[in-house]
Amino acid sequence: MKKIAVVGASGYSGEELVGLLLSHPEVDLAAITSRQNAGRTLAQVFPKFGHQRKAKNLRFTEPRPEWIAQEAEIVFLALPHGIASEFAVPLLDRGCKIIDLSADFRLRSAAAYLEFYGHEHPAPDLLLKAVYGLPEIYRREIQKASLIASPGCYPTSILLPVIPLLKSLLIKPTGIIADSLSGVSGAGRKAELDYLFVECNESIRPYGIPKHRHLSEIEQELSLAVSAPVTIQFTPHLIPVNRGILTTLYLAPEKHFSDAAMMHELAEQISNCYQAAYGNEPFVRLLDEKSLPDTKNVVGTNMIEIAWRLDPRTGRLVVMSAEDNLLKGASGQAVQSMNILCGYPETAGLQ
Ligand SMILES: NC(=O)c1ccc[n+]([C@@H]2O[C@H](COP(=O)([O-])OP(=O)(O)OC[C@H]3O[C@@H](n4cnc5c(N)ncnc54)[C@H](OP(=O)(O)O)[C@@H]3O)[C@@H](O)[C@H]2O)c1
Repeated sequence: MKKIAVVGASGYSGEELVGLLLSHPEVDLAAITSRQNAGRTLAQVFPKFGHQRKAKNLRFTEPRPEWIAQEAEIVFLALPHGIASEFAVPLLDRGCKIIDLSADFRLRSAAAYLEFYGHEHPAPDLLLKAVYGLPEIYRREIQKASLIASPGCYPTSILLPVIPLLKSLLIKPTGIIADSLSGVSGAGRKAELDYLFVECNESIRPYGIPKHRHLSEIEQELSLAVSAPVTIQFTPHLIPVNRGILTTLYLAPEKHFSDAAMMHELAEQISNCYQAAYGNEPFVRLLDEKSLPDTKNVVGTNMIEIAWRLDPRTGRLVVMSAEDNLLKGASGQAVQSMNILCGYPETAGLQ
């Protein structure tokens, strides 16, 4: 059994990782860190894991790279951006494989990191070494990676629906609009005025307009898909639910579909494109023409749902997706990458 550590195990995505890894058939959760909970057992901090024998013995420790490297071969970093790289560098030096949930290694360009994150990248040499951990797109690269940069939650909900359409030249790479709605756990487990119950409940608000940080990785990956720069309009919204992301994309088909026959032909091409890309994917659910994505169907799972409609009145293709921001948008996807990296069944511990 491979020994695994979770650094930042007391946060929302860390907690999800702990839950998934405790019941994973192939791995041993050997170390968990949290500065605020150091010395306490997993069962004390998260009573919901208390029925598991391991939770009574496994204690949170201070996050010290030298010690973590002695305890584990694979380390998940569930830390704020900017902090994750402080751990990735010494852990990689000591031979650990890293699966980072933060944004620190998602961008290939240090200049883009500076532009979107507002400070110099602390380890720019590692940017080209990192593999973007979107399994449906980079499965082969993940198998050989030593540093996996797990994608952001919004980017996953946008990239999976859009990349196959762009690669098949079915949509224009211009004028893409994405509206996303996210639950409050997307902001992490921290006490901040904007995320207090009374501030969020019974309220829906946009934020991060017009240049949310996630745009950097979304545009990077869409540009790579068509080998040309792609810019999109992205509006995230905070909604009063604990978890879940719903994204609606407004896209311009390359072909006009002004009569029924043209529309039928285009619909068949879109359907074939998605089937070819995701028909055999265990964690992508392509919905039929009667169903639309709903966060209640994916929360608590590693699934993303995708549906689409052609609108003959506007000439647009509308694509919608739903996922759990903490699972397919974070920890579930990171465990999916670990399974690929270790040669386990990709669904191990995730179904
Ligand atoms: N929440 C989501 O939906 C989501 C989705 C995708 C990706 N992500 C990314 O995943 C990462 C973790 O997100 P989260 O929402 O789980 O965050 P979170 O709930 O705020 O948890 C952060 C964790 O990091 C630890 N930590 C914070 N500062 C640290 C420091 N300076 N040194 C060592 N440990 C530190 C915290 O524990 P202590 O303070 O006790 O040490 C805690 O365990 C972020 O980079 C985030 O962008 C989050």
